[in-house]
Order: sequence, then structure tokens, then C-alpha cells
Amino acid sequence: MNGTGTTQAPAERPPAKMDLWRRLDERLGRRQFLLKAGWACFWAFLGGWLLSNLRYLFPNVLYEPTLTFKAGQPDEYPLGVSTKWKKTNRVWIIREPAGFYAFWARCTHLGCTPNWFDAEQRFKCPCHGSNFNTEGDVIAGPAPKPLWRCAIRLADDGQILIDKARLENRPDARRKGDFFLPYHSA
Ligand code: FES
Repeated sequence: MNGTGTTQAPAERPPAKMDLWRRLDERLGRRQFLLKAGWACFWAFLGGWLLSNLRYLFPNVLYEPTLTFKAGQPDEYPLGVSTKWKKTNRVWIIREPAGFYAFWARCTHLGCTPNWFDAEQRFKCPCHGSNFNTEGDVIAGPAPKPLWRCAIRLADDGQILIDKARLENRPDARRKGDFFLPYHSA
């Protein structure tokens, strides 16, 4: 009884907290739960280990375009710079009145791929601004040497054959031998 003569109901107790451990304890028993958790960890580890080992059976292979490729018949090319093979083979083919030569489309500074600007008759590298003329010589920017020319010849079937495994850029050597294909239309 309190001072006013009324009887106070006993304060309601908050319901006992059913924490996770307690629930698991009731349902499985703590020992059983730990045992199952241990097995789950073991199988998860084993599965991960097996998967990572299986990954070794499939090595990373880069399928790069071949270094030698046929670029079609010479008469398919008008005079000037052809960008037809730049995307697939990283090569430009240049036709002039006396014949053909081919550049590897790779800047001699740090290896970016320049773009051809027909109106300016220049190859311009987007990375640090090197410019090359149609002979491949550096006319601006940090590139230390001319563009590389690829070996070029006619295959037995009359198509132009480009070989990127053989390169030349010395001014006295690049317009002869395997690096220049003399050609006159029939
Ligand atoms: S990579 Fe071409 S200018 Fe630097």
C-alpha cells in the first residue's frame, strides 16, 4: 500500500532477452551448434581451395592477332594512307606512285596508338603530342625516333603480306629491301 491508501500493482518485468546464443542453445545445444559451424567452415574452405586449384587448369591466354597477315590485293588501295588494318592489326598501309610500305601503328615514345589526320598529312599521338609525317619521321613532340616500318611483300596469291615481326626505321634502309614493295598497276 502507498501513502494514498491504494495498492500498487507490481511493476511488469521486461521479458527475458532471447539472445542468439540462448535460442541456438535451446534448439541445437551449444555443442551441436559449434560442431555444425566447424564443419560448415571446413567445407567452405575445402570448396574454395578446390575452386582455386581448378582455376589453374584454365590459364590466361591472350589471343593476339598474328604478326603476319594478308592485307588484300594491291589494287584495292588508292594512293595515300589506309587505316583499314589499324584496329585489327595495328598497321597503316601507305600507297605512293612507286609502291607500298607499312607502319606499325605504335608511337615510338611510350607506345600509344597515334591517329591519322588526312587534312594535315600527319600521324598524331594522343598521349603526349608526338607528330609524324608520312615518312614516319618525328616532326613534333617527345618521340625519340621514327615510326617502325613492317616488312611487306606480295604473297603467292598476289595479296599484300605484312610481317610485323620484322621492323625497320633507319632512313637509309627503310625504303628498300623487304620494307618497300615496288608496285605499278597493270
Ligand atoms: S606515347 Fe606518343 S607521344 Fe608519348
